Amino acid sequence: MIVLGIETSCDETAAAVVSGTREILADRVRTQIEDHHPYGGVVPEIAARAHIEHLDRLIDEAMSEAGVSWFEIDAIAATSGPGLIGGLMVGLTSGKALAAALAKPFIAVNHLEAHALSARLTDGIEFPYLLLLVSGGHCQLLIVKDVGQYVRLGTTVDDAVGEAFDKAAKLMNLGYPGGPAIERAAKDGDPTRFDMPRPMLGRDGCHFSFSGLKTALRYKVRDLTLSEKLSIIDIADLAAGFQAAVADVLVDRSRHAIQEMRARYHYARTFVVAGGVAANQSLRARLSKLAEEEGFTLVVPPPALCTDNGAMVAWAGLERFSRGLTNSLAEPPRARWPLDPDAAKAPGAGARG
Ligand code: KG4
Ligand code: ZN
Repeated sequence: MIVLGIETSCDETAAAVVSGTREILADRVRTQIEDHHPYGGVVPEIAARAHIEHLDRLIDEAMSEAGVSWFEIDAIAATSGPGLIGGLMVGLTSGKALAAALAKPFIAVNHLEAHALSARLTDGIEFPYLLLLVSGGHCQLLIVKDVGQYVRLGTTVDDAVGEAFDKAAKLMNLGYPGGPAIERAAKDGDPTRFDMPRPMLGRDGCHFSFSGLKTALRYKVRDLTLSEKLSIIDIADLAAGFQAAVADVLVDRSRHAIQEMRARYHYARTFVVAGGVAANQSLRARLSKLAEEEGFTLVVPPPALCTDNGAMVAWAGLERFSRGLTNSLAEPPRARWPLDPDAAKAPGAGARG
């Protein structure tokens, strides 16, 4: 079985070809980082235009790199949400048009499900498993029971963790995206110089909060810049302090989730971390230690499959297709599309939680 996957939900335009034997035959990604860099964040109109400009070429490249003909493609999958509507429409329309022209089945993929299932593509793990999904738009702990079956244990009541990295980097003029910039700066920093808060640490349950940490950083930057500019050492220490606080919070919340998982599925032993923030080596190391302490195996896809890509979309499409789950060409793009629509709202959460 061979599926073409298309991803345009945020600021990566991507197309990939994946086989049912877990082989990535081609994986083409064009990041729009440069396009959004001057604005310090993703500008939806610029994103949609860039997707239009590059998607067709990336699909062509993926097809020729995979060395398969259109007749050998069994289904077309495209991300249909959650994400920026303008971008989603570009990928979704292209996917539907290809499916219609080739008379192939079409699968509308949930971007979060694509992240959630990526560890089955890379490591072939079995259900159920615990998932920490950490990206620019999301910070959730979920039990992945099966394709389409998720139990949300926790979510953020304010900022997503990647968003917190991005905002923190912006405060220190480190540019966009903030995660890799903070990770680089933190390498030479002293995480103990500044006292950073650890929101939610020690509380019951698995919910997250990051806005207090971001505010604390803002005040520290303000105090330091009253007289002069931030020095390289200040930036390194602030970044290291911020990253260490995030790590402590992720570890604490994940520990609760592992315990919850163990209570529900005593045989479950796999802890997956996915989404762009999972590319962070220092966070990975902390989560790996946690998993070891709790007798779980940590599975983190390689960085290129943690940040947005087409292979995970093709794979999610394949998982659905192999279960007979396809969609009609009337499937709409969705700005919001929770994996567990029955999850209770997190206490104090805004529109997102
Ligand atoms: O999954 P992703 O590529 O896009 C979304 O679906 O959101 O995640 C992007 C997010 C950004 O907020 C970016 O700053 C963060 O992932 N990120 C990182 C790292 N690399 C990317 N955060 C921390 N450390 C990193 N190395
Ligand atoms: Zn993503």
